[in-house]
Amino acid sequence: MALTGLLRVGEVCLRVFDLDEARRHYGDRIGLIETYQGEDDKLYYKCPDEHDWYSVVLRQADQAGVEYIAFKTLNDADLEQYEAGLSEFGIGVTYVEAGAYPKSGRRMIFTLPTGHEIHIYAHKDQIGNGMPTRNPGTIPDEGYIRGMRTVRLDHVLIGGPDIGANREIFSKVFGFVVSEQLVDHETETPLAIFMSASTKPHDIAFLLQPEPNRFHHLSFLLDSINDLYHAADLIGKHEIAIDVAPNRHGVTRGATIYFFDPSGNRNEVFTGGYVHYPDTPTLTWDTTQVGRATFSHDNLPRESFLNVLT
Ligand SMILES: [Fe+2]
Repeated sequence: MALTGLLRVGEVCLRVFDLDEARRHYGDRIGLIETYQGEDDKLYYKCPDEHDWYSVVLRQADQAGVEYIAFKTLNDADLEQYEAGLSEFGIGVTYVEAGAYPKSGRRMIFTLPTGHEIHIYAHKDQIGNGMPTRNPGTIPDEGYIRGMRTVRLDHVLIGGPDIGANREIFSKVFGFVVSEQLVDHETETPLAIFMSASTKPHDIAFLLQPEPNRFHHLSFLLDSINDLYHAADLIGKHEIAIDVAPNRHGVTRGATIYFFDPSGNRNEVFTGGYVHYPDTPTLTWDTTQVGRATFSHDNLPRESFLNVLT
């Protein structure tokens, strides 16, 4: 299947308390590249190997968490098709014109049943990854010497009360498939749902939470396990607040580290994981194995990982 429709999480906007602290964390420590200046209350970043102008937006605010999640779709005409699909779920949309968000084409905006603001756009100006597109070579000029050597923004995990409704919308309107899920072993109630739009084990995931519009983490892909330990060394060197030291997920099988930005938003860097095809069976974990589903080397649930959100 050729990849059409929603391609990926193209942009995440997080709320942070202090832009100078955020710049030190996301720019100096993680190593994202600041690519756009123009608004006093926002910072714009991309990962070194991304082509679009920016993928992470940080907005100064009094409360941490996620402001919106933006998906890139292949064609601008997709937006009206999604609007029709969303209307069948009783969800209205608004449009904002091209340029309302820097370097971006027009956007369609709506709110998920879990309370999260979602944007969809087909165009963003490209700044490139610093390499030519003819005879490009393999290493972006400064990409792999910056901070944690991120490759790209990969996925997000968000929390809210009605994750089953999110699942229906992402499967029926956007064509995502459920790659994995965690269910209560007594009631079969889904507690976490992982959904893929691509060959990644997940592009977005939903965690059952009592409050709407909660944010669990955004995740950056690294090239190798060596880069994962390099990131862990930087976390130790710079005394970044860590949640989970290098480990491996059961779900997705990625090798992972979780840590926090200065505002308490959780970040992940990871590498590896399997290739997910549209016909790959959905994998189900239940709460008798919640420890191994999250971190595979033991079956100990980590309370901070399961319950700390912004
Ligand atoms: Fe993750």
